[in-house]
Amino acid sequence: MKNLAILISGRGSNMEAILRTVKKKKIPVHPAVVISNKPGAAGLKIAQKLGVKTVTVDSSGLKGGSWEYDKKLVSVLEENNVAPKNGLICLAGFMRIMSPEFIRHYKGRIINIHPAILPAFPGLHSQRQAIEYGVKYSGCTVHFVDEGVDTGPIILQSIVKVKDDDTEESLSKRILKQEHEIYPKAVRLVAEGKIKTSGRKVVLR
Ligand code: GRF
Repeated sequence: MKNLAILISGRGSNMEAILRTVKKKKIPVHPAVVISNKPGAAGLKIAQKLGVKTVTVDSSGLKGGSWEYDKKLVSVLEENNVAPKNGLICLAGFMRIMSPEFIRHYKGRIINIHPAILPAFPGLHSQRQAIEYGVKYSGCTVHFVDEGVDTGPIILQSIVKVKDDDTEESLSKRILKQEHEIYPKAVRLVAEGKIKTSGRKVVLR
């Protein structure tokens, strides 16, 4: 069974959706640790209530994409037995770019959720980007993390219709509901070894 680490920066609703599914024994992983780069992130309390260990690795003053910060993460992950061989790392609203060193170290072991149908609207404020662009459909994507921003192989996606009167807030809310559906599903597929990656393509075994 793989050891799961979830990295958060704030609210932690995707983390909660994953942990609740794990607790129902629907994902065969051991929830080893939740790490936040922000002290006092709301998700930390939720994780604690669910009986999962939490650690804060404060990133204040440390530039995104720097190995200086990420090597601290690696130490905490290793202390909690989340290694490249047996670990799975879920980024769930973790608001930092990872360094190439970190991504190479955990190659194929890091998953992220993005609130748009990639490759459309990568980066920040995807829901706002979708509304401003005028798309009729948006949604969310669970993908493996590679060295680009939101560019890794896609595991699952879910579509949400954009309404004429949608605001960034209303669209984000409907997309989030779908995020909570597909993120646990994707983690389960990976944990059960049910997918394989061939180039950019992720296919069911
Ligand atoms: C989600 O919309 C996720 O797609 C994005 O950041 C947000 C995190 O929300 N990467 P939460 O902390 O999981 O509630």
